[in-house]
Amino acid sequence: MRKIFQLSEIKILFIFLFCWSCSSDEPDDNSMMQLELNSPQNLVVTQINETAFQITWDAVSSATSYQSQVSLTPSFDAFVAPYDNLEDSGNQINVINLESGTSYFFKVRSVRDDKYSEYSEVIEVTTENAAEPEPDTPLKEVATTFSVGMAVSTSKLGGQWDAIYKREYNNITAEWEMKMNIMYPSEGNYDFSKADLIVDYAVANNMDVHGHALIWHAATPSWVENFTGTDEEFSEMVEDYIKTTVSRYAGKVRSWDVVNEAFEDSGGVLRNSVFRQRMGDDYIEKCYQWTREADPNCLIFYNDYNMVINETKRMAALNMVDDFIDRGVPIDGFGFQMHISYNGPSKSLIASTSKEVTDRGLLLHFSELDVRANPNNDLSSLTVERSEQQKNKVKEVVEVYNAIPESSKFALTIWGLRDPDSWLIDFWGQNDWPLLYDANFNIKKAHTGFLEGLE
Ligand code: G3I
Repeated sequence: MRKIFQLSEIKILFIFLFCWSCSSDEPDDNSMMQLELNSPQNLVVTQINETAFQITWDAVSSATSYQSQVSLTPSFDAFVAPYDNLEDSGNQINVINLESGTSYFFKVRSVRDDKYSEYSEVIEVTTENAAEPEPDTPLKEVATTFSVGMAVSTSKLGGQWDAIYKREYNNITAEWEMKMNIMYPSEGNYDFSKADLIVDYAVANNMDVHGHALIWHAATPSWVENFTGTDEEFSEMVEDYIKTTVSRYAGKVRSWDVVNEAFEDSGGVLRNSVFRQRMGDDYIEKCYQWTREADPNCLIFYNDYNMVINETKRMAALNMVDDFIDRGVPIDGFGFQMHISYNGPSKSLIASTSKEVTDRGLLLHFSELDVRANPNNDLSSLTVERSEQQKNKVKEVVEVYNAIPESSKFALTIWGLRDPDSWLIDFWGQNDWPLLYDANFNIKKAHTGFLEGLE
């Protein structure tokens, strides 16, 4: 039976329930939010440079985002755009585009729906003083016993690139436009338009050209990968391509990477490229012989990466070179690409492995130098400390190269001008600053490292 309450009983019940709700130690919704929506704690400045700083704080469990404020005054009446409650979901912020040697005030609050916590404590951060400008001595003026190379592309032969190339480099390499996939895009149809622009630029500016690269598994046009003729026709096609290309630039292209990266990273074995499949293991020596026949005066190189740190691969390549030398197969030099990092490989290992090349009487080319400043992705901007470390590694590389026997000196080539031009950014998909110039064509400490390596 359903009990029916009298009116007086209902009033007593209502008064009781109201008092209970007020006295309950259970917080109501609003106080629940206030209770859960704490302000950010333990703010830590994690990176500072001339124009930026990074701050992290403990994540607030119920916050969905945070609002940061940056001001020139502790009273926050001079906001720095866009940091006026700039909202973001992460418990970290990179504050950028700041003035050097300037104090900034930072605070942050938690956000959940339309609720805001109190602001955090205020942190004062002072950006680093603008560094003294680095010396702008052109590299080629100091590197008197070898040429200083630069990887170029036709889209970067004008403007500030042109001005800097002319000032300090006396050797250029096409970063990608003198490879088979560009120069021989379809069967029987050569396209030397880009190569001509680069070679003509070098000739006009009295620069050497290092041809890169006639044969490379990673820049082979699809029609070659899917060649429908016989193996003999394939070999004839490759011979025609090499002789057509090398003879075209005889007297202008001083040297060629004839075959690039022919060995697997492990096992010391040849990559099973279409060239090896269709021509046999001796495709490499055939290409070197054809190159020599096409231009007896050009210097011909083998080129590969991780030659310093990958002993198995290095020994396999050097064994091939020893065999060439023993049998009179033409080869003049060996390229260590030198895609390295600020923290390795060591100077002593670079020196000892370089000696394995120079002891064979070969020319040595440090052919594609870049120095990752952020291999472990621990930086969101290049700090002064990491710049100094990168500078020291560049200095070590140059010291090693400058110390090899004069008879083995050829060139030290840098794989790009400005940090953002580097292939490494897209390849690794993260921030990095691997070269000698910054995004604004300013000389970096790494450039000074090159100069100091020549002292
Ligand atoms: O800039 C053009 C763009 O305008 C066009 O729309 C697009 C269409 O594909 O191509 C863009 O050019 C790209 C170029 O890099 C510039 O970013 C090419 O596609 C791309 O193939 C080229 O990649 C080059 C790669 O070799 C393949 O040739 C990289 O720049 C170059 O740094 C890299 O260099 C190699 C060495 O030759 C050998 N050692 C390893 C090194 C790094 O992979």
